[in-house]
Amino acid sequence: MSELNNIALTVIGNGKGILAADESTGTMTKRLDGVNVESTSKNRLIFRETLFSSESMKNCIGGVILYDETIKQSTTSGKKIPELISESNSVPGIKVDTGAKVLAGSSKEKITEGLDGLRERLKEYYKLGARFTKWRAVYTISEDYPSKLSIISNAHALARYAALVQENGMVPIIEPEVLMDGNHAAEDCYNKTSEVIKRCFEELILNKVDLKGTILKPNMILPGNKSQQKISSEDISKLTVKCLKESVPSEVPGIAFLSGGQTETEATENLNSININNNTNFIMTYSYGRALQQSALKNWSKNIEDIKETQAIFNHRANMCSLAAQGKWSKDIEKQSN
Ligand code: G3H
Repeated sequence: MSELNNIALTVIGNGKGILAADESTGTMTKRLDGVNVESTSKNRLIFRETLFSSESMKNCIGGVILYDETIKQSTTSGKKIPELISESNSVPGIKVDTGAKVLAGSSKEKITEGLDGLRERLKEYYKLGARFTKWRAVYTISEDYPSKLSIISNAHALARYAALVQENGMVPIIEPEVLMDGNHAAEDCYNKTSEVIKRCFEELILNKVDLKGTILKPNMILPGNKSQQKISSEDISKLTVKCLKESVPSEVPGIAFLSGGQTETEATENLNSININNNTNFIMTYSYGRALQQSALKNWSKNIEDIKETQAIFNHRANMCSLAAQGKWSKDIEKQSN
């Protein structure tokens, strides 16, 4: 087994998933504003330290995606954040893109930037302890979008990023997120997501990326958030598994879904259903931001000194997600252990 494949399996194997705590300072400020906590560097650290020192880190969180600010921070007792994460046998990771900007040539769409100087930044992150990375591309669905230009340019950037990351001994998470925004049907999401993912793998192969040392982080196949369409978790899972089976090369060890605006319970239930219907060899797990942190953040904001209760809430959510990653979650378990 190659070293990169080994890292990928440590992050997403054995019923574990990823805690996406890589919100940029701008995004984190919006989240903290939403719960009336001042967004200072210290407060961002206290919340994240609370999560990273929770009990569920050991059995449920195989890897944590950090933001540049956090990977360079230390806890109040002087421990480096990557060290704190590694103590739970979890792997520190880092978001390395510099955000999605207006795509010249199709100004209503976005292209993710960050390739300039990336090789040097990767070397620094490796030294700081990161062993996997994330780059997120975003696509909107409407009659005209995503355009060919956005699909091709973002796939090209993702592949160049992934090649550089592997050159520096880390596992790239490839995140092509087809957004939930809009009134499209699940079938549209299915078609566009398939096209986007297939193009990503064409470019990854062209750039000689070792697919066994990658993790795909896609959206689930869902109707748009303004759509009238009602669709069961069972149907969401069947469409999602079918889409990935047809678009992802079998060498890829696993898929870690983003939550993308689903509630915590929706994201858990859908992942559980996906695992029940998973007729592929891919590991199918979570790489959730909001769907792992929302309730914990809400509780923490009431009293930022109350670490225990916040950790209990986070532990519950992480445990539910881990059960879902094994197809062992149920509504009853969710209620009983809450
Ligand atoms: O890039 C997106 C995040 O890593 C996942 O966040 O689960 O809140 O969509 P989310």
